[in-house]
Order: sequence, then C-alpha cells, then structure tokens
Amino acid sequence: MKQHSTLLPATILAALIASGAGACGAAAPALRDAFDGCFLVGAAINRAMATGSPSRWRTREQLDADLALVRGQFNQITAENDLKWALIHPREGADGFDFGPADAFVQFGLDQGMYLVGHTLVWHSQTPSWVFAGTNPPPEAVRAAATSGPIREATTLPEAGRFRRGMDGGPGRSGYQGPRASREELLARMRDHIRTVVGRYRGRIKAWDVVNEALADGGPDILRNSLWRQIIGPDYIAKAFEYAHEADPEALLRYNDYGLENPAKRRNLITLVRSLLNAGVPVMAIGTQAHLNVSGATFESMDDCLTELATLGLPIHVTELDINSAQGGQRSSGADLADNAGVTQGGLVEEADERLARAYEGVFRAFAKHREAVAVVTFWGANDANSWRRNGRPLLFDGESRPKSAFDAVIRVAAESERGGR
Ligand code: XIL
Repeated sequence: MKQHSTLLPATILAALIASGAGACGAAAPALRDAFDGCFLVGAAINRAMATGSPSRWRTREQLDADLALVRGQFNQITAENDLKWALIHPREGADGFDFGPADAFVQFGLDQGMYLVGHTLVWHSQTPSWVFAGTNPPPEAVRAAATSGPIREATTLPEAGRFRRGMDGGPGRSGYQGPRASREELLARMRDHIRTVVGRYRGRIKAWDVVNEALADGGPDILRNSLWRQIIGPDYIAKAFEYAHEADPEALLRYNDYGLENPAKRRNLITLVRSLLNAGVPVMAIGTQAHLNVSGATFESMDDCLTELATLGLPIHVTELDINSAQGGQRSSGADLADNAGVTQGGLVEEADERLARAYEGVFRAFAKHREAVAVVTFWGANDANSWRRNGRPLLFDGESRPKSAFDAVIRVAAESERGGR
C-alpha cells in the first residue's frame, strides 16, 4: 500500500492552513492529504451513513453534513457495526444473512475510491447466541451462574440501545449460558460465516479484523475466557485466520485488540502474535484500537507502544482511534464494551478542548515518527455526534462537523513532521 514516505509538502500545507483550517469544514484541509504517502486516514461509518438514511439521531441535513465530512476528509472507511456477526448473520440457516447495510457500506466506499476495512469476523461480543448453542451441557460453573440470574443474550444490537453495555461470553457473566455446540459444530459455523462474508466482498474489502479482542485484561491467562475459547480451544484464533485466508487470499488479515498502550497487555499481544506467526498462521497486520483518554494519551506512551509493536515486523493499523474527554474515562486503560457507558459520564474534564488538542498532537507525532510501520489510522466515528463515546467529545470534529482545535493540532503535526523530516 505504501508507495513513498513523504508528507504533504509544507508549502502546500501552509497554504491549506492559511485557507481556513478551524474556520469551517468546507475550507479545512483534508486529513487524508496532510498524511498522504504516510498512512491512510479513515473513519468508522454507521448504518445511517452507509445507507444514506436519516435515523432517530440524525436528520437529513445532519446526515448530509456527516457524509460531506467523510467524503472530504478520509480515504478509508470501516463499518462500525454492520459486518459484525449479530448484524450480518443474525439467524442460522440458508436465509440467516442480512447483507443490505454491509452491501451499502461497500458500495459507498467503492464510489468514493476508499480503502475498505471489514470489522469483525470472530469476537466475543455482538455474536448471536445461536452460534454457540447445541446439545452439550454447559460446565457446572455456568449452570450455577445461570440459575442465579436471568439468562441473557450474548448479542448486543446497537439498535437496541445506542450505548448499551456489551456482553462478554465468559462463564458467570452475561454471555450465552445454555447447552453448547461441540468444537466441530462451532468450527463449522465459523468457517461457513467467514467463507460467506469474506467471500462476498472478496477483492473489494481489502483488510479484515479476523479476530477481535481475544486477549484477557489481566489474570494468569493470556487469552480471554470467551465461549470461542471454551468451546473450540485456544486454536480458534489460528482457525479463524486460516478460514479467512482461504476465503480471500489477497486480503490483509489483522489481529485487533484494545489497551495495547498498557505494557502488560502489549507483552501478551506480542507473545500471542509471535506464536501464531511461528505456527505459520497468516496474521498480516496488527490492529491497535487506541480508545484513549486525554489523561493518558501522550507522545511517549504511543511512541513506546508503536516501538514495541513494530518489533513484530508487521504493518500497524490504528483501528479505532478516539480520545475521551469525559471525567468518567480518565482512569480507564481499556475499551471493554462493558465499561463504555461508565467512561463517558461525569461531564467533561476542565479545558477539555485544549487537553484534547494536546493529546491528539502527541499521538499523531508518534504516528508520524513511526510512519514506516503505521499504514492506517482510523477514527472511531467521523464527528462527535456519531461517536460511541459522544459524551466524551473524543473526535476532531464537533457534532456539526466543525473542526476543533485538535484538528488544527493534527494538521500542524503533519506540517512540522515534513519540515523536521520526522
Ligand atoms: C462499538 C460500536 O461503536 C457501537 O455502536 C456498538 O454499540 C458497540 O460496539 N471495540 C470494537 C468495536 O472493536 O467494534 C466497538 O464498537 C468499540 C470497541
């Protein structure tokens, strides 16, 4: 994907900045141009944007402005939800797939000539219960937990509540707790899902998050105790990559996770990916989500993170960037869906705009420094109104798509990196 490694010439940038960055969206320079030749700059887009249909949350005018922003600023898009299992494959059987919104996402991206990313094939969250269901009794610990509380679905549909808590598939938590599929049944379902979804968009969706968030957040085990791991065993990760490679040998296959700014979790990621690579598993890029907060997002911490991740020798994709300015999020080091509601509460931190600008400046300086390794930087949403953390105003554009001071800071980093060579 990388042809050359220079940033937009400073002269052009200076002219662009002089032409009105910070004044209004239309006159602002584009992020994709500022980082041209360095990395792609993208955004996650939601169903309303992909299908061009206003929703409960966005009027026609607001949606049109959101779309103008996406077209004007980015050269890469990721589907925020519509390629997740629960959305694209909600039912078992021949008519179990709902391809409409995902087809619209792909068409939108192709029309704009954008690099398309598919998110995600195998995840503990937003996966329907039928996937794990079968005739094998669940382990005793799960049965005990199931009788002490209501049985809940493993699935979280964004439609059911925009910022609803996610569900983990672990025992005693809120995942599917009924009788289970066998290893062979679950592998067959996984393969069928991956072949159908990846196969349908073969050659058009260029990169896939094959496995999402398989690492544990602590404890003795490297891997999260998800239903995938419990039913199939730890090799479910390798199998998912094999099936995705089979379905589209040209696609770039990513392992994606959050909290990699935390050195302990990062070490676990490196251990996991090294062992996969040693076993010949086709992991082709590292996805680091980068759901950050203004207190923790610094040049140093992102520099350390990228320096260590780069030792794997794979391209690094920053897959879900946002920087939370809500007070509730300041001590959080992760992005587990279950914590997300909490991290967007408590009002904004003081001087949120300035702190956000400093935080973005720091992390973009690190991205620019590691431009040889960093191939893609994707924001998790185009503007604050469309963010899953919108209470925390975590993006470069406000709800009306006006660039914030953080946007100017990021554009300045591009210009300064060019002048300084790095
Ligand atoms: C989030 C979406 O943004 C929400 O709309 C949805 O309700 C829940 O999922 N890590 C991931 C993403 O990999 O898929 C999550 O996206 C955010 C955390």
